[in-house]
Amino acid sequence: MSLTTFRTAPAGAAGEGVARGERGAELSLEKVTVPSLAEKKARRQPIVSLTAYDYASARLLDEAGLDLVLVGDSLAMVMQGHENTLSVTMDEMLVYTRGVRRAVRRALVVADMPFGSYQASEAEGVANAVRFVKEAGAEAVKLEGGRERAGLVRRLVGAEIPVLGHIGLTPQSVHRMGGYKVQGKTMAAMEELRADALALEEAGCFAIVLEGVPRELAQMLTAELQIPTIGIGAGPDCDGQILVLHDMLSMTFGEPAKFVRRYADVAGVMRAALAEYKRDVEARAFPSDEESYHLPRETRKSLEVVEKVAG
Ligand code: KIV
Repeated sequence: MSLTTFRTAPAGAAGEGVARGERGAELSLEKVTVPSLAEKKARRQPIVSLTAYDYASARLLDEAGLDLVLVGDSLAMVMQGHENTLSVTMDEMLVYTRGVRRAVRRALVVADMPFGSYQASEAEGVANAVRFVKEAGAEAVKLEGGRERAGLVRRLVGAEIPVLGHIGLTPQSVHRMGGYKVQGKTMAAMEELRADALALEEAGCFAIVLEGVPRELAQMLTAELQIPTIGIGAGPDCDGQILVLHDMLSMTFGEPAKFVRRYADVAGVMRAALAEYKRDVEARAFPSDEESYHLPRETRKSLEVVEKVAG
């Protein structure tokens, strides 16, 4: 192995020290790693994460100082327009993950293992997770499920691939659950999810996403687990939060879920810009002369001579 840095980070990218972000806030430039996320839990500092699927938005997330960027299989819905997450393939996930990887310098890049890439056998799960690391530069993978995934988690961790668990409302189980429903609402269901969380921790997950569970349950699990919990629709007591980027930017169509806070109306901004562009083109107000290229003076003179002769 070489101890030489394999890539020179551009100015303002991961390294030592701090940078200034939005409104002058101090942003750490230190690379986020699996151990540094554990330290955040110990220091009771919230872990800030979002999904991203492409270079431009991943770059903005990283520059905003987020800790973890998930290339979620939710891209099947928000990027590809499918009605659930089940159809996205390994090869498609790899393409999106590569774009995100090229943009992110500081945050931890986690790739979501798509439905069908790890359910059939542990060997296939390990082989597919290796693809995310080797072919797309992911630093960790996420997979859905509890105790039934403990063996696979152990094998992945044994293969040096950090694993983010995901329990509660697991969208890949939509058909079994009969829809996207809040999980863990009875004493028995709470006990099941507790056993799942403890099994994933024991198997070596570095953190667990808790999706669509009552706040009280998320609070209990967060207190009991040594590893961080990252909540989505799980209340404010988790060690961190994650949202689907398109949800929080209003880039989805239809009513958002109760837990989604809209931080911006990007669809509104786009609609206004598109309407203005259409108006301008139709009125021949775009492009203007200043937005056009011109012939060099010499060519223009020659053209004038040709035009004179011709006409
Ligand atoms: O695919 C996804 O975006 C996710 C998050 C919602 C956790 O799994």
